[in-house]
Amino acid sequence: MKDFKAVIFDLDGVITDTARYHYLAWKRLAEAEGVHFDEAFNEHLKGIDRMGSLELILASSPRSYTDAQKLALATAKNEHYKELIATMTPADLLPGAVDALDACRAAGLKIGLASVSRNAFTVLDSLGITGKFDYVVDAGTIARGKPDPEIFLKAAHELGVPPADCFGVEDAVAGVASIKAAGMYAIGVGDPRVLAQADVVIPDLAAFALD
Ligand code: G6P
Ligand code: MG
Repeated sequence: MKDFKAVIFDLDGVITDTARYHYLAWKRLAEAEGVHFDEAFNEHLKGIDRMGSLELILASSPRSYTDAQKLALATAKNEHYKELIATMTPADLLPGAVDALDACRAAGLKIGLASVSRNAFTVLDSLGITGKFDYVVDAGTIARGKPDPEIFLKAAHELGVPPADCFGVEDAVAGVASIKAAGMYAIGVGDPRVLAQADVVIPDLAAFALD
């Protein structure tokens, strides 16, 4: 592996299993709106921001919605999601997550976080790992979500490292696409058949090794 200077992590589904909570919250909303929702469909929502995810779900609804109704549904989903994450503690860190962050730090890499979740700061605090990052992108400042490269480019810029000297770590198809569009090396976390665009795929961060 070349001499990278920074690593930029995704949060949901990589460092902690909040991807499960997003799934449960969207599933309840979809079913209340009479839309079929399953794990396969959810795969397309990973890494997609809140309103973008809602649009994808409502696309298969027989009803039509005003902007105000959409905003109310997105807010309700977020309230449910916040209930689900309210009890998170450092015990909710996925296996290998802290070791991976510490290994990157020990190797002298700058460490960034690029999540489009507006709950990312809360989740990092609950996990007790906010201090392990040199820079966390504020999702509220990002105009275009993943798969657009904006969020990874912003992280690299703020870390002061050219994109070509960064690698990204992602569990979502849209997230891997975002990393590649930013001109970075992509480590996928999950299923290699799903994350086909990644340069390398590991099953979880317990398998993360800098060599
Ligand atoms: C992450 C998750 C998505 C979620 C998005 C927005 O990218 O992978 O499933 O929709 O964040 O999260 P938020 O907490 O802002 O609704
Ligand atoms: Mg993710």
